[in-house]
Amino acid sequence: MGFDSSSGAAANGPFKEIYQRSIDDPQGFWEDAAADVHWSKPPKTILDESNSPFNQWFADGEINACYNALDIHVEQGRGEQAAIIYDSPVTETKSRISYAELLDQVRHFAAALQACGVSKGDRVLIYMPMVPEALVAVLATARLGAVHTVVFGGFAANELAVRIDDCSPKVIVSASCGIEINRIIEYKPLLDGAIDLARHKPTNCILLQRPQCEAPMNNARDLDWKQAVASVAPVDCVAVKSTDPLYILYTSGTTGAPKGVVRDTGGSVVSLKWTMKNIYDVDPGDVYWAASDIGWVVGHSYIIYGPLFAGNTTVLYEGKPVGTPDAGAFWRVISEHKVKVLFTAPTAFRAIKREDPEGEQLAKYDLSNFEALYLAGERCDPPTLQWAQEQLGVPVIDHWWQTETGWSICAICKGIEMQEVVSGSPGLPAPGYQLAVLDQEQQTVAAGDIGALVVKLPLPPGTFTNLWGAPDRYQSSYFENYPGYYETGDAGYIDEKGYAFVMARTDDVINVAGHRLSTGGMEEVLASHKDVAECAVIGVADELKGQVPLGFVALNSGCDRSQEDIVKELVQMVRESIGPVAAFKQAAVIARLPKTRSGKILRGTMRCIADGTEWKMPATIDDPVILDEITDALQSLGYASSTRT
Ligand code: COA
Ligand code: AMP
Repeated sequence: MGFDSSSGAAANGPFKEIYQRSIDDPQGFWEDAAADVHWSKPPKTILDESNSPFNQWFADGEINACYNALDIHVEQGRGEQAAIIYDSPVTETKSRISYAELLDQVRHFAAALQACGVSKGDRVLIYMPMVPEALVAVLATARLGAVHTVVFGGFAANELAVRIDDCSPKVIVSASCGIEINRIIEYKPLLDGAIDLARHKPTNCILLQRPQCEAPMNNARDLDWKQAVASVAPVDCVAVKSTDPLYILYTSGTTGAPKGVVRDTGGSVVSLKWTMKNIYDVDPGDVYWAASDIGWVVGHSYIIYGPLFAGNTTVLYEGKPVGTPDAGAFWRVISEHKVKVLFTAPTAFRAIKREDPEGEQLAKYDLSNFEALYLAGERCDPPTLQWAQEQLGVPVIDHWWQTETGWSICAICKGIEMQEVVSGSPGLPAPGYQLAVLDQEQQTVAAGDIGALVVKLPLPPGTFTNLWGAPDRYQSSYFENYPGYYETGDAGYIDEKGYAFVMARTDDVINVAGHRLSTGGMEEVLASHKDVAECAVIGVADELKGQVPLGFVALNSGCDRSQEDIVKELVQMVRESIGPVAAFKQAAVIARLPKTRSGKILRGTMRCIADGTEWKMPATIDDPVILDEITDALQSLGYASSTRT
């Protein structure tokens, strides 16, 4: 097998023309795309840039996202088609929910939320595992014109509390438990713990009881999901302004305080529907599977909204790429449900490749309906790309995007024209994104030279419009360093053919198994340990997860406790404070941190030593001896020795 990815050329064909129009005439381009969705009041103003960077797409339009995801398809005769295929190897459950059934459930759950006092603009926090009811809760919130904020189940109570306080939800929707491969995660104690920690208290918590674990309903605010929907009259959609928020999604920034990315309603509906055909090349009725989690942006855009706006069938998979039960899990799902397109993170493929390098599991399944694999969430290493191409024999398309953008900045727009796939690159700038690489003086660098990856304003529809309650942070974090541009926080280059290469973050964000985490947030936890004088956390290369966090701590003078005990406590603290998803498992105890004479911690040098790559003694280091100590400490933790040049 093997797919010839060299057909097509970046310079010719329809893609170039379509892309160019999106840059020369963004308003005309997106006005056309907007004609493909349902508006309660069609917009006359396509883009209001009067308060840039707070740009407003379809400013005077009115719309409802749930209507575009469900009602419209039922009205247009798609009611019997599966909207969701739920496949849960961890509970040995499979089910199909049609558009008509899903609409019915959503109309009732919206009524239950309304009975709790939720109305347009109120926030509803959703802390749920990968079950269909999570999608019901999301869509019901959107139906009321309220704003959902989904929090990933792998975060600890403290992280949940921070989000509760930031967005002050009227209602929290949760479930009794989530299920990992080897254990049941009880959500109720985490939820109650978070509400205890938070200053803001929700009016109600609606709990879905799962048979694997019954949650105690021990609080006056607790409502059982089944009872909440039992005697309510279904409700209709509430139209909102195009610019009203559809959701808030928290993501990691440079500090422990997460950023509440705000996505507007009209821009999301228009852009996500447009991407389904133009980027992923799927048509109504096709089965589309994003193997991610609803707690991440990929889940919002491509488990929930995109496929439903486009009338696809979305696969909701509650399992892992390996271990549920084996490395053939993804192939089984593709084959059984006739999946046309799969979207996941490279780490999932590294996990499969590690267990089944020869692809023996793959040979057991019929993948004849499968047409393309899309990867994102972290840099796709060329060996993984090549392995996937060889095994699957379909295009494997790496594409680059962020929570902030909601859809891909760079991709191969297969639905427009199948361009060449270049190993190591997530492709060409997608329509709407005028990508540039700038140096520190804000000058464009030559092709092939590394700099800050930035996007010229205006950003296309569907990208973030603000940070919740923090407009100043929105402006200063993303738009100040490079006036007139959006700063992605990634560094990289564009080659002569226009292909982008995303090489590294320019801030403290790391990507662990496709999950975006803040090393700054972890440092805040380590620094709160009573024996820690100073600390640093860096991301080091990991064969499976891409990156994992590694801590360095210097202890208070006079501390004579066992270093091993202290490290164990630190690992537990990060797990309890941020969550297991941080995958913080190791820390080296050192005398002091390596710094420049001006006090800047030499993270880059520490990373090279840990990764075993070549490094130079920094000219400005205040105390070179400490680097020898770090090398020894890392070797004793099992890290490769690196060479100093
Ligand atoms: N609720 C509670 N705990 C969770 C969780 C959830 N929803 N998701 C993950 N965790 C826990 C895991 O059980 C694990 O705990 P442990 O330290 O006790 O083992 C920890 O968080 C780290 O999880 P994860 O990063 O998923 O690592 P893993 O070793 O369990 O699995 C992969 C590794 C590669 C198989 C897994 O990361 C994966 O499937 N990735 C797919 C990529 C993806 O979904 N990316 C999202 C963006 S596209
Ligand atoms: P998130 O907001 O969680 O989606 O993480 C976004 C970050 O993940 C980006 O800023 C990049 O650093 C990284 N990322 C996502 N997709 C890619 C990709 N295809 N190639 C390289 N890095 C990526």
